Amino acid sequence: MKNRLFDSLIEKIGILKKEKNAVILAHYYQVPEIQDIADFVGDSLGLSQNALQTKADIIVFAGVHFMAETAKILNPNKKVLIPDLNAGCSLADSCQPDDFLKFKSAYPDHLVISYINCSAQIKMMSDIICTSSNAVKIVESLSREQKIIFAPDKNLGAYINALTGRNMILWNGSCEVHDIVKVETIIKLKAEHPDAKVIAHPECKAVILELADYIGSTTGLLNYSIQSEATKFIVATETGILHQMKKASPDKLFFIAPTDETCSCNDCPYMKMNTLQKIYACLLNEKPELLLSDEVIEKAKKPILRMLELSE
Ligand code: 13P
Ligand code: SF4
Repeated sequence: MKNRLFDSLIEKIGILKKEKNAVILAHYYQVPEIQDIADFVGDSLGLSQNALQTKADIIVFAGVHFMAETAKILNPNKKVLIPDLNAGCSLADSCQPDDFLKFKSAYPDHLVISYINCSAQIKMMSDIICTSSNAVKIVESLSREQKIIFAPDKNLGAYINALTGRNMILWNGSCEVHDIVKVETIIKLKAEHPDAKVIAHPECKAVILELADYIGSTTGLLNYSIQSEATKFIVATETGILHQMKKASPDKLFFIAPTDETCSCNDCPYMKMNTLQKIYACLLNEKPELLLSDEVIEKAKKPILRMLELSE
């Protein structure tokens, strides 16, 4: 029954996409059935690059609010639709514009690098945006004398500080999904599968990253799982990435690093708000639409374009 419903929705979405010259961009944390109908599935950097290049008139962004904002900032003349306007992000929410303005004012000679997981208002106050796949490269491109504020993810910031020997001032924010991955459960899984590689997203705490054989963005983790000779992986990030990992390497085994003994609760509640039904409805009705003022678009675009230039 569920399959028949999915098949008819998928067909209707396909027809609407053609009729309206629309494209569906999806993050790896989306449910499998959304990843499977998307025109492009990727990490935050890949999605931004794709949003910049698309020739479509309508972008349906199957991700969270800050990602759809980024697509709109890069495509002010296109219609950007978001299947559920409430699909936010705990990390972006941990950095509110008024608080950040005060924080930034205390460090007037610092450059601001913000992780893409932040609102357009925070982007407007930033000098360069980065993602988990280019953060180290971007920080390394700056002179060692350059003083830097890094926002909003303290875990990613601490990881970059450790890797580059910098002393960036960190905003105290984190992702509720990555922050609760537990050391004990990884150690237990590793004891059960000693030949498994531990692979982790840099939004995890330092204690988790210390256990990792590889640290990277979602695309980085996926590519590592494909290229590695290992056949088992303990994956410390959101559950959605397992779909592409299993598709690319059906003979390998993937264990999501659990959040406690009984539950693999690392589903992002915001990413998982999107459904095929909501994608169909937003394509049909062309709403909810992501709208931003010209001023926000103009100011938030500069640090994003700087990131894209530095990522080439
Ligand atoms: P990346 O896919 O860029 O690694 O980002 C992960 C994430 O948490 C997105 O919200
Ligand atoms: Fe935000 Fe974390 Fe969800 Fe990514 S996984 S959208 S950082 S809450």
